[in-house]
Amino acid sequence: MPGGGCPYLRGATAAQTNGQEGQSLRALGPAPVVELTGGVLARAVVDPAPAERLSAGPHVSRDAARHWPGYREGTRSVDGVIAQWISTHNVLNSYGDEHRELRAPIAAALTRRRVESMTPVIESIVQDVLDGLEGTGAEQNIDLVQSFALPIPHEVITRLLGVPAEYLPAFSAAVAGLFDTSAGAAELARSMGAVLALLDQLVASAREYPGDNLVGDLVRAADASECPLSDAELLDQLMLIIFAGTETTAQAIGTLLVHLLSYPDQLALVTSGQVPMEDALTESLRLRPPVASVPLRFAVRQFQDARSGEEFGEGEPILVHIAGADLNRERYEDPERFDVRRGGSRSLAFGYGPHVCPGAALAAREIVIAVTRFLERHPGARLALAPELLEQTPSFISNGYTSIAVELG
Ligand code: HEM
Repeated sequence: MPGGGCPYLRGATAAQTNGQEGQSLRALGPAPVVELTGGVLARAVVDPAPAERLSAGPHVSRDAARHWPGYREGTRSVDGVIAQWISTHNVLNSYGDEHRELRAPIAAALTRRRVESMTPVIESIVQDVLDGLEGTGAEQNIDLVQSFALPIPHEVITRLLGVPAEYLPAFSAAVAGLFDTSAGAAELARSMGAVLALLDQLVASAREYPGDNLVGDLVRAADASECPLSDAELLDQLMLIIFAGTETTAQAIGTLLVHLLSYPDQLALVTSGQVPMEDALTESLRLRPPVASVPLRFAVRQFQDARSGEEFGEGEPILVHIAGADLNRERYEDPERFDVRRGGSRSLAFGYGPHVCPGAALAAREIVIAVTRFLERHPGARLALAPELLEQTPSFISNGYTSIAVELG
């Protein structure tokens, strides 16, 4: 077996979900060593309590350039998906004071007030996407992912950033191109170039007239800071927000609809108003969190997690396995059951500690509106395939379905 006998983290396959893979690692202890793509060895933390302690504690960092010795010194090369996740300089991959400095303007731009002001915009985006589905025959299948779940967060992010009307079609098309899994490397590079060029223009005009939108907020905060961010650093934060806020939300919309359409009794509890859609979302996020795990964290120094007794060496990579932790039997009774009456029990779906998702409230508003309006417009919708036959995203990071065939009924 690769990695000197430790298990290789495959991610979701036809045979198992990410959550099940995480739970099967649990048999090896609370933080077994696993091999990740590219030969990286990491401690997979699959119990929720240590996962929370490690995510919260100052002795664990997300900054590879500072706290992963071989990487810092250039003696260990990292490629593929792990490199993509750890090599960018943004709020997700920063630590301590630098993290606080980068996060403050983002959190300030994603307040309840912003969510409230975005709500009519979200309603209108959802109506437009639903209108686009009109004319689909009752017996015809649509792919819920491409036709419904993805376009909504794409449009919401575009409006959140404050892209002016004249650039909207070009920007939306370029952002959609970043998530096109059928695109080749050249096409992806073209989409990336187009998004960066448009973001560059947005930042330049916000430097002159910062508007009441996320780019305006970031520019204002960056200019007011003692160490102002350069345009390049601002672009890195904006790219992270586009990536962090789009596919995750799309996966959550698709997965919640799969769960509700698979369990008519649970659907009835929600559509009759006995259980709020928000609780159904919390349960769906627990059962299949859109982010199964976020690479990568590092032990800032050697330490022992007092309660579990697990020891971590200085610089040791740590992977918090959200999907596994959210199926923990000690925290959740019958964890694989979709039960909207769990009462919104907490999960790790939005992370924990200083890096906890600042877009959670916005995402929840988008998902609840999207799924509620879809079910109102298409009360007879049903899955064209049994849920266990749906193809899962082949990843140990992104967690959901590559396509969801639905008959609108
Ligand atoms: C259902 C949708 C979403 C899910 C499941 C999700 C999940 C997560 C998770 C697991 C993290 C990492 C937490 C950690 O490492 O401890 C994260 C971070 C982040 N998310 Fe989200 N997210 C979602 C939507 C959004 C949206 C809509 C935005 C912005 C518009 C957003 C922006 C961010 C940012 C900027 C970070 C980095 C925060 C930091 O490092 O301090 N996310 N998210």
